[in-house]
Amino acid sequence: MSNSPKIRFSCHLFILLQLLFSVGVDSFVYEAVENLEINCGSSGNSTNSGDSRIWIGDNESDGHFSLVEQKKDSVDGITTQVDSSVPKVPYYTARLSRSQFNYSFRVIEGQKFIRLHFFPSSYDNFDRSNSLFSVYDGPFTLLKDFNASLTADNDEYHWDLVVREYCINVDQGQMLTITFIPTPVHQDCYAFINGIEVVSMPSDLYYSKPSGEGLKQVGHEGNPYTIYNKTALETVYRINVGGSQVSPNKDTGMYRYWNDDNSYLEQFFDHKNSTRQLPYNFLAKNYTLIGNYTAPDEVYSTTRSYGQNVTITYNVTWNFKVDPQFTYMVRLHFCEISSSITEANQRVFGIFIADIPAEERADVVAWTGHNLFPYCKGYAVIFDKLGSSKEQNLSIKLLPQQTPWAYDVILNGIEIFKVSDIGTGNLAGSNPEPCLSPPQPMVPPTNPLKSSKAKTIVATIAGAGSGIIVISIICFLIFRRITRASDSNGKSKWTDISLVPYKSSKSHGSSLPSDLCRYFSLAEITAATNNFDDVFVVGIGGFGKVYKGYIDEGTTPVAIKRLKPDSQQGAREFATEIDMLSQLRHLHLVSLIGYCNDGNEMIIVYDSRDPP
Ligand SMILES: *[C@@H]1O[C@H](CO)[C@@H](O)[C@H](O)[C@H]1NC(C)=O
Ligand SMILES: *[C@@H]1O[C@H](CO)[C@@H](O)[C@H](O)[C@H]1NC(C)=O
Ligand SMILES: *[C@@H]1O[C@H](CO)[C@@H](O)[C@H](O)[C@H]1NC(C)=O
Ligand SMILES: *[C@@H]1O[C@H](CO)[C@@H](O)[C@H](O)[C@H]1NC(C)=O
Ligand SMILES: *[C@@H]1O[C@H](CO)[C@@H](O)[C@H](O)[C@H]1NC(C)=O
Ligand SMILES: *[C@@H]1O[C@H](CO)[C@@H](O)[C@H](O)[C@H]1NC(C)=O
Ligand SMILES: *[C@@H]1O[C@H](CO)[C@@H](O)[C@H](O)[C@H]1NC(C)=O
Ligand SMILES: *[C@@H]1O[C@H](CO)[C@@H](O)[C@H](O)[C@H]1NC(C)=O
Ligand SMILES: *[C@@H]1O[C@H](CO)[C@@H](O)[C@H](O)[C@H]1NC(C)=O
Ligand SMILES: *[C@@H]1O[C@H](CO)[C@@H](O)[C@H](O)[C@H]1NC(C)=O
Ligand SMILES: *[C@@H]1O[C@H](CO)[C@@H](O)[C@H](O)[C@H]1NC(C)=O
Repeated sequence: MSNSPKIRFSCHLFILLQLLFSVGVDSFVYEAVENLEINCGSSGNSTNSGDSRIWIGDNESDGHFSLVEQKKDSVDGITTQVDSSVPKVPYYTARLSRSQFNYSFRVIEGQKFIRLHFFPSSYDNFDRSNSLFSVYDGPFTLLKDFNASLTADNDEYHWDLVVREYCINVDQGQMLTITFIPTPVHQDCYAFINGIEVVSMPSDLYYSKPSGEGLKQVGHEGNPYTIYNKTALETVYRINVGGSQVSPNKDTGMYRYWNDDNSYLEQFFDHKNSTRQLPYNFLAKNYTLIGNYTAPDEVYSTTRSYGQNVTITYNVTWNFKVDPQFTYMVRLHFCEISSSITEANQRVFGIFIADIPAEERADVVAWTGHNLFPYCKGYAVIFDKLGSSKEQNLSIKLLPQQTPWAYDVILNGIEIFKVSDIGTGNLAGSNPEPCLSPPQPMVPPTNPLKSSKAKTIVATIAGAGSGIIVISIICFLIFRRITRASDSNGKSKWTDISLVPYKSSKSHGSSLPSDLCRYFSLAEITAATNNFDDVFVVGIGGFGKVYKGYIDEGTTPVAIKRLKPDSQQGAREFATEIDMLSQLRHLHLVSLIGYCNDGNEMIIVYDSRDPP
């Protein structure tokens, strides 16, 4: 069997990867008391591959929530637009109505995340362009005359989904009621929703503590700003500075999404000497100063700092577009991760928020006493009620100060929340201006709350795993050297295998990257292996069996790895592996061809062609 070395190698690499990627999954530091996911317009429980959460259909109430309609005319809709980049759950089904409807949740008191998921698409008799509605939660206006299709089309990344996250406090004995009201500009206007999440949070996470001192109000020092329980917040940005996206499953247990900062960072000069990305810091952090649920460890492990050998003084700057005339809460996350900076006065810098000085002398070690102690500071920015522009810049700038040790800055994470208007309870901005130019082809999403979770899997690997991947690559290269050396006759040279990226051959409901590798139907796989005949088994591992088979009318020999369909853990690793291999493939390291996850099957297909 001339293929066996390759197959053995594949298993070898996968066992290594499985070990590395199974660490840390589901070990949330915060256990949300309430964690409800509603899949609107469907019945029964559903899940997505790569996500351990169960989405409950809204067709039959289970006592935790109920759907109340004004005219009992809402319908369950199924999208008529199949989009393989959009996860099936909760986006393929929707609750749609031309009259008002409410979702009421029976929850215990406390502060909650409410996440609203929209996939603006046509559903049966509901045309995509006719959605226009407002969403309320008690006294708070979450969305006002919201044109979902316009909002999605206007998204700078041309991403198809719209996801909004709010923080709301529920008092004792109160119900949480979310009301959808179509705006009747014409008779076809309707309201819709695909998914609703209600997830509880620790009471001191974003809201001011009863005894606490409030946020520092930039421009008005000595006049602290309190986030009261009677205010609501909308998350507008949540950024892992200098790192990669962190998917909801890798959050501390609240399923928050952390984006990378690439599209917000202003680039000065050439990339070489402006804003350095410090290497991922694997050392254990000490969370005594802030709750260990505040942000994922990954956020505190990556950072940006000032450029090297820069001769001009400049501000390290991030720009965020926000709705004007609101108050914003800005939370900055810091962790001194350099091992050579252990005392105060070594790394000192100024912080400007919206061009107003927020800190004269930011000095992380002076605040924390040590390096590797994560820390978080909150600020309030009150924008002028005047002005008519539709958009405002909220910039964060860091300016280094000379110290005997360094001329440098540090920042690990940024969160920006819009605060509800004290008088009206309003959180809604206006609809974007219609975009005149036709949408560009889709690019990978980078915006946290507007993008799909599935795509973020790619990024999580790059972050937590980047060091690990490097190790795997090194292992691989060593391994390849050994294999090659033993291959005196020149057969089975890995590098000779051409790794052409395959286009997706069909659309499917999976959330895996069809544009990165080929998708196989189960029928194709059973045909290739004579219905998983044991005669074709060439290897068995903890994950399941590896079969030899042929695809493309018997012309291409492949190795088919079939995962035992038992655990959620397996599903996550499967998604992770495919994503990672897709990423690695262009490095000519792995001979991935494609995958199949029809039904309950999780199958990966590798090239095992004999070299010419
Ligand atoms: C997080 O902090 C809590 C309370 O301080 C502690 O009980 C828990 O063990 C910590 N979890 C981890 C993973 O460090
Ligand atoms: C939801 O329930 C209604 C009536 O109870 C039924 O007609 C409809 O088919 C159900 N929808 C689904 C998706 O099961
Ligand atoms: C759906 O999942 C919930 C737990 O999230 C469980 O309590 C319920 O029994 C499940 N329902 C069905 C029909 O499986
Ligand atoms: C929905 O909830 C709002 C606020 O609680 C209430 O005023 C309205 O009557 C409810 N609508 C229906 C159809 O029950
Ligand atoms: C806000 O509500 C939370 C839980 O509902 C409570 O623990 C906290 O004390 C309240 N804060 C204030 C300032 O009343
Ligand atoms: C939503 O916006 C689009 C684009 O401007 C427009 O064509 C459509 O009519 C709007 N929908 C409604 C219901 O106003
Ligand atoms: C964290 O730091 C505190 C205070 O310096 C110390 O008491 C504690 O032992 C440290 N915890 C860990 C896990 O190192
Ligand atoms: C920065 O300057 C030091 C010495 O001044 C030099 O060794 C180093 O190569 C420079 N780094 C870059 C990126 O130019
Ligand atoms: C960037 O570095 C190069 C040398 O590495 C230097 O010539 C150039 O002046 C630097 N640019 C700035 C803006 O400091
Ligand atoms: C940094 O930004 C602040 C606030 O916008 C500005 O006042 C200052 O002049 C800037 N400094 C430099 C060197 O660009
Ligand atoms: C916001 O900042 C960006 C980048 O600096 C700039 O291009 C844009 O014109 C600014 N917009 C406003 C409204 O100031």
